[in-house]
Amino acid sequence: MVDADLLQAARDALGRSHAPYSRFHVAAAVRAHDGRVFVGVNVENASYGLTVCAERVAVFSAVAAGATQLEQMALTTEPAPTLPEHSMPCGACRQVMAEFMQPSAGVLVDRVGSFQLAELLPHPFVLSP
Ligand code: THU
Repeated sequence: MVDADLLQAARDALGRSHAPYSRFHVAAAVRAHDGRVFVGVNVENASYGLTVCAERVAVFSAVAAGATQLEQMALTTEPAPTLPEHSMPCGACRQVMAEFMQPSAGVLVDRVGSFQLAELLPHPFVLSP
């Protein structure tokens, strides 16, 4: 179960999304094992392929602060008339989440619902035996 305050943290970060090209603003918040919360927003670039998704920014921010056990993620997007109302995490982000989140970890997608990471990525790539 993902706590409502985590979704609020993502919503609070949404205004910092840098998405001048797609205009599709995304924000994510993760809660670490020790209770700390880290947020991320999508950061686009004029060289489009350099764009990084909000989920990965949140996860990498947590890891850079020493938080490598992440228990929950909340995700939100900005509704706009010509864009999708919501977004599920992309495949690349699901694989990155699987590196630091247990299969049972909760993922709350705003206006969509709650999932366990294993539902989103049942067979992640792993190197550990
Ligand atoms: N985006 C995310 O932030 N997360 C996803 O899981 C999928 C896509 C962003 C990347 C880009 O800035 C915009 O959404 C449109 O693809």
